[in-house]
Amino acid sequence: MHEKARGLGGIGRERQAEIYLGGVRGRKPAVPVAAGLLEERARAAMSQRGFAYVAGGAGLEKTIDANRAAFEQWRIVPRVLHDVAERRSGIELFGQQLDSPFLLAPIGVLEAVHRDADLAVARAAAAEGVPMIFSNQASVAMEECARAMGDAPRWFQLYWSTSNELVASFVRRAEACGCGAIVVTLDTTLFGWRPRDLDLAFLPFALGKGIAQYTSDPVFDRLVGEEKDMPAGSRGRITVTAVLSLIELARRYPGSFLSNLVSSRPRAAVRLFLEIYSRPSLRWDDLSFLRDLTSLPILLKGVLDPDDARAAVEHGVDGVIVSNHGGRQVDGAIASLDALPAIVGAVGREIPILLDSGIRGGADAFKALALGASAVLIGRPYAYGLGIAGEQGAREVIRNFRAEFDLTMGLAGCSSTSEITPSMVTRAD
Ligand SMILES: Cc1cc2nc3c(=O)[nH]c(=O)nc-3n(C[C@H](O)[C@H](O)[C@H](O)COP(=O)(O)O)c2cc1C
Repeated sequence: MHEKARGLGGIGRERQAEIYLGGVRGRKPAVPVAAGLLEERARAAMSQRGFAYVAGGAGLEKTIDANRAAFEQWRIVPRVLHDVAERRSGIELFGQQLDSPFLLAPIGVLEAVHRDADLAVARAAAAEGVPMIFSNQASVAMEECARAMGDAPRWFQLYWSTSNELVASFVRRAEACGCGAIVVTLDTTLFGWRPRDLDLAFLPFALGKGIAQYTSDPVFDRLVGEEKDMPAGSRGRITVTAVLSLIELARRYPGSFLSNLVSSRPRAAVRLFLEIYSRPSLRWDDLSFLRDLTSLPILLKGVLDPDDARAAVEHGVDGVIVSNHGGRQVDGAIASLDALPAIVGAVGREIPILLDSGIRGGADAFKALALGASAVLIGRPYAYGLGIAGEQGAREVIRNFRAEFDLTMGLAGCSSTSEITPSMVTRAD
């Protein structure tokens, strides 16, 4: 190959060319590249409740701040005169080759962000070859998203219900949908104290939002049939808002709008969901139920302590996701990046360790990989892209992350992700 032509490829150069050549023709990207601006534009584009739900965190939101502060405490130490003309920014995870170290974090209730919700994200993820982790609280059933993705990689995230029968049904459906792994989220056995949602008195699930995995499930359907015949409890005053909520619920629930309006079924489904969606009594021993159920890799999400990571390995788990749920659960919790090194020290040689919470660009991903993560999850930023410009917006966000990661790698002197070692970063203080 002619020397000049080397190094012109790579997603980083490609994305820069798309944007800058677009500029020559008077076109700007559909969503801001800068993380702060992206959030600002999303706030303007989304409903007040939708934005509060996505952006908000627990309590004083100190964990959200800590997540960012943790990334800022690390600095990349670039190396020079390494041939980086060709870069391999992909990774291997559970035997699968991926083009980048990114996955999409499971984000529930995407209908509060954009009407195309999970379906738009599924298409964007598939186009970029970045695995989407279907949320247990999705707005679109996993089967529909899987259909939209062709052969592109996807995983399923599970909230462990009080009904093991329902858990088994979700896992079976995920297998049938071609999901490559099951992610069990453990930091949400109770819902965090979230002032932004509390002040708006907004719980999306109470309006039937974000329960599509349930309303499309045969086991849940049967349980709703049993619930429907139970007394509904106190009825409360009929207000305009209550009637509007009922209409919204009838519109969203599977089946015809008119029959949903007169049926008690949609309300019974919401009631049942609120009763059974999570199991705070879950213990380590319960994991054997899931282990027996599936041969897919199982990852635990929400691990922040090295002893928990060790216990995960001892219980036959295949990976952990170091995460504090984007600061939405425990205010004042340890930043996930701060928790990473000890967890890598404890189990890093045995299982892949993924990380999320605070990843806002490709350089953050580089730091996480340098500290021992195998891959990272993009969270709020893709939801903001979706809120601003639907599928195109989500896709551009993913593409920008991939591009920045590729360029950061090259500029730091790494031609492959295996070269991103601890010596590539240093503490700022
Ligand atoms: C609006 C919203 C909904 C979420 N829903 C889920 C969910 O259904 N399941 C889950 O495991 N995590 C959920 N998460 C947590 C994300 O998977 C991820 O851990 C978090 O967004 C990472 O933080 P970051 O977005 O600040 O980077 C949600 C996060 C947000 C912002």
